[in-house]
Amino acid sequence: MDYVATIMQPIEAEMSQFRARFEQVASSDNPLLQAVVDHTLRRGGKQMRPMLTLLMAKLCGGITPVAYHATVALELLHTASLMHDDVVDESDVRRGQPSVRSAFSNKTAVLSGDYYLATALCEVAQTRHLRIIDIVAHLGQSLADGELLQLASSGQVGPVKPHATGPVNFDTASPFAEESYYRIIRKKTASLFATCAQTGALAANASDEIAENARLFGEYIGICFQIRDDIFDYFDPSEIGKPTGNDLREGKLTLPIIHALQTCPDATALALAAQVRSGTISTTEIAHLIDFTKAHGGIDYATQAMHRYRDRALDTLQYLPHDDAIHTALAAYANCVVERRK
Ligand code: IPE
Ligand code: IPE
Ligand code: MG
Ligand code: MG
Repeated sequence: MDYVATIMQPIEAEMSQFRARFEQVASSDNPLLQAVVDHTLRRGGKQMRPMLTLLMAKLCGGITPVAYHATVALELLHTASLMHDDVVDESDVRRGQPSVRSAFSNKTAVLSGDYYLATALCEVAQTRHLRIIDIVAHLGQSLADGELLQLASSGQVGPVKPHATGPVNFDTASPFAEESYYRIIRKKTASLFATCAQTGALAANASDEIAENARLFGEYIGICFQIRDDIFDYFDPSEIGKPTGNDLREGKLTLPIIHALQTCPDATALALAAQVRSGTISTTEIAHLIDFTKAHGGIDYATQAMHRYRDRALDTLQYLPHDDAIHTALAAYANCVVERRK
């Protein structure tokens, strides 16, 4: 079954509207910025977040100009976070083409990301909907907060500079604990999906209770989305459109390995995991840890956790307004996220 066709069926025309508006809002008379815009538009990404906002808006009463402004703002914020993410992760491929930092430079990616972020705020201001503006502003904090928590957790903060007084431990949670993992992914990824769904509902004047259930749907799906992304990292990159095997190289311990280490606290594996965090792990050792993770059920465990969150998302649908085509689309959306191949 073609999930994307099912998801798109109720919002085909509205997604075209969204794309036209996005292109118009992003365009600039600054030649360097426009070159970046053209580059990012060439491979627009899967546009999962706009689909979610528009589906929720339609389900909750209809797609108004407020919903379009929120949808454009959130995709701009997402794109900004990817430009910055590839600088932070030193990643050269995004959406199957060179990342902005690789096609241009780190400086261009940071500044263009800032511009996209600011444009997202201009665009959300156009909603004139104070609650939506407030939610999106807090979302910006959450994304950066999550990235900083992850940086500290991966031991990549770098040497503490002389102005700091005494030794500072920025990482207050155990990087080997599932709890720390979920805390990070809720902030860096699930918060965006949650906001997309919630603002879609609010833009359609949904009640607080319905908007909260929409938010929960988005949050559970966002957790699934990041677990899926983290599972990708253990497999061959050729079909995914971005490099894999990077998380361990970057000091990141994700759910599959956290579980494998819990199940089998083997001394060698634990020593290698410590090396992941100190950034002294070699390519051969990474391959060993990937095999260790697979051998101790890490991938299966993460897949099961993802399925549980998918089921929780599907459960929330009963508390949302009913519409067969849109419920079918949202269920396809949930399945698409957990079964996606890129
Ligand atoms: C990438 O998101 C960032 C993560 C949360 C893992 P997507 O995979 O949805 O990115 P695009 O927009 O489709 O490229
Ligand atoms: C993606 O995070 C960006 C944000 C969620 C802010 P990752 O670094 O985990 O994802 P990819 O693999 O580069 O897309
Ligand atoms: Mg990255
Ligand atoms: Mg990252």
